[in-house]
Amino acid sequence: MPTLLFASGIDDPAPWQAAFAKHRPDVRFRVWPDVGDPEEITHALIWRIEEGALRKLPNVKAIFALGAGIDQIIRDATFPRDVPLFRLVDAGLREQMTEYALYGVLHWHRQMGQYARQQAAGEWRMLEAVHPSHRRIGVMGLGVFGMDIARTLAAMGYDVAGWSRTPKTLDGVEGFAGPDGLEAFLGRSEILINVLPLTDETRGILSGRLFASLPGGGALIHLGRGGHLVEADLLAALEGKQLDWAMLDVFPTEPLPADSPLWAHPRVFVTPHVAAQPVSDAATSVVLDNFNRFERGEEPSGRVNIAAGY
Ligand code: NAP
Ligand code: GLV
Repeated sequence: MPTLLFASGIDDPAPWQAAFAKHRPDVRFRVWPDVGDPEEITHALIWRIEEGALRKLPNVKAIFALGAGIDQIIRDATFPRDVPLFRLVDAGLREQMTEYALYGVLHWHRQMGQYARQQAAGEWRMLEAVHPSHRRIGVMGLGVFGMDIARTLAAMGYDVAGWSRTPKTLDGVEGFAGPDGLEAFLGRSEILINVLPLTDETRGILSGRLFASLPGGGALIHLGRGGHLVEADLLAALEGKQLDWAMLDVFPTEPLPADSPLWAHPRVFVTPHVAAQPVSDAATSVVLDNFNRFERGEEPSGRVNIAAGY
């Protein structure tokens, strides 16, 4: 009998259990840490699980991630690399990611932070406007999310570029690729949006060196992974006005520690890793569809290239 182990730490199992009960009542649904007999587990549905736990499931055939990013799963040195891992592709997350990025762009581009300060001071003062066609935005990562963000911003008239590992061609978006394309890409990115996956190559990429390559006085919208960011370098870039503002959804340590200077920084907007959450029917449909496809011997969506790390 197929038996699915659910483990998250942040996601409520109830909607997932209900979806499986409705569409696949033949599947036994177990919620970590109540694994039952580990030999009975055939599939796993996880955001994150205790280190070494997957190794103790000798009959698991497929692992489905509860997220688009899977670094938190494969960082376990004992992760069973011979078992296929499938991440969420789009699955109702794409619209949320684009909304979040748009919010950050509009907030900074339309100088809403400054207007909020002026309102608090009772000050009626018009700031100089910038037409979207003169606002240069760079999107780091041109995958499912980055492409949608770049296309949406380009359609709104912004001057948009994107950076990816392999070259991409996107209408209305200037493409840059690989380490050789990074400097030129950064040099034109007044607003930098990060939606990269966290891999060995991208860890710590949001560093002082990268910030120094930006035009200066711009904004960072960071919704990739906490491990991309060197927090001390961000604080220094804000202090030195190399960056004017940062909107951060992900952090090297989550939850963000109470003593982090980011909480109260006047030019930092902190959100608690909520840019996109698998809360919609789209996410349960994708996982159920993937589960069924895998059982039929068909290829599910989102197979992770473990060697590349995304
Ligand atoms: P994806 O479709 O796999 O796209 C990843 C993009 O990053 C691709 O364009 C890829 O280049 C590029 N890339 C990877 N390594 C690179 C490198 N070394 N140099 C330059 N570009 C590189 O991923 P996705 O579905 O868009 O998701 C992206 C990330 O968003 C996830 O991994 C996760 O960390 C994050 N996320 C955050 C939240 C949140 O709530 N904050 C929610 C969901 C996901 P190629 O196109 O050449 O492969
Ligand atoms: C959330 O961060 C995800 O990777 O889906």
